[in-house]
Amino acid sequence: MKNTVLTLQKQKEEKDKIVMVTAYDYTTAKIMDEAGVNTILVGDSLGMVMLGYEDTLSVTMEDMIHHAAAVARGAKDAFVVVDMPFMSYQTSVYDAVVNAGRLMKEGRGNAVKLEGGVEFAPHIEAIVKASIPVVGHIGLTPQSVNAFGGFKVQGKDVEAAKKLIEDAKAVEAAGACMVVMECVPAKLAKKISEELTIPTIGIGAGPDCDGQVLVYQDLLSMYGDFRPKFVKVFANAGETMREGVKNYIRETKEGTFPAEEHCFKIDDTVIEKLY
Ligand code: KIV
Repeated sequence: MKNTVLTLQKQKEEKDKIVMVTAYDYTTAKIMDEAGVNTILVGDSLGMVMLGYEDTLSVTMEDMIHHAAAVARGAKDAFVVVDMPFMSYQTSVYDAVVNAGRLMKEGRGNAVKLEGGVEFAPHIEAIVKASIPVVGHIGLTPQSVNAFGGFKVQGKDVEAAKKLIEDAKAVEAAGACMVVMECVPAKLAKKISEELTIPTIGIGAGPDCDGQVLVYQDLLSMYGDFRPKFVKVFANAGETMREGVKNYIRETKEGTFPAEEHCFKIDDTVIEKLY
């Protein structure tokens, strides 16, 4: 069954946790979809885990459209959320609507996600008015890494915690269908999740959010460059891949691959006539 804004909302009401994971290509999206995740995020984290940048700032609209369209082709049931890249919405409400439209029309997403709270409520409202579902993203918003001075837990003192609650409420009031909370203390995320009617999806925000999201290379231990505290490794696919490729190298060098079962046959009489 296709996950939609309505089924995701129902999951919150029925306290059935929403599972979101990132994917950036057809094959991985198909695996995640078949595994049964509710929603796939085509995150701008692709800048780091797929393209090797040090942060998300260089990711373009073309990058997002290219990867989103591949994911959309692989995701039969999962609700596909596509990140709006840095400077595709911050510049104006008009740009926000135009670029959100491209991510839906060319990227074939089911929703867009953008970072920011109170300050971006008008952008969210305008996109929602264009019939495009929006997922908010508050707390640690990686596109603001330079403004934050690094990747840090947000909302730790009273003032910052109050601002985070205001951000969450502003995003909901603007019409967002869900909100991602990144690097937020667990007890604060719990309070926000209780106060909002829309689902909250946590990453480094404790167990009381309505759902969880992880970058797939983190949960499958495929990205060795940096592992945040909130990541749990559920399988060691990176090691399995390395082993597999080492075996391929060894057998190719030994000449044991390809074996007879991997070869195409031809009648010997044909070969004889070639000599
Ligand atoms: O880009 C991304 O993968 C994200 C998640 C970390 C929530 O925004």
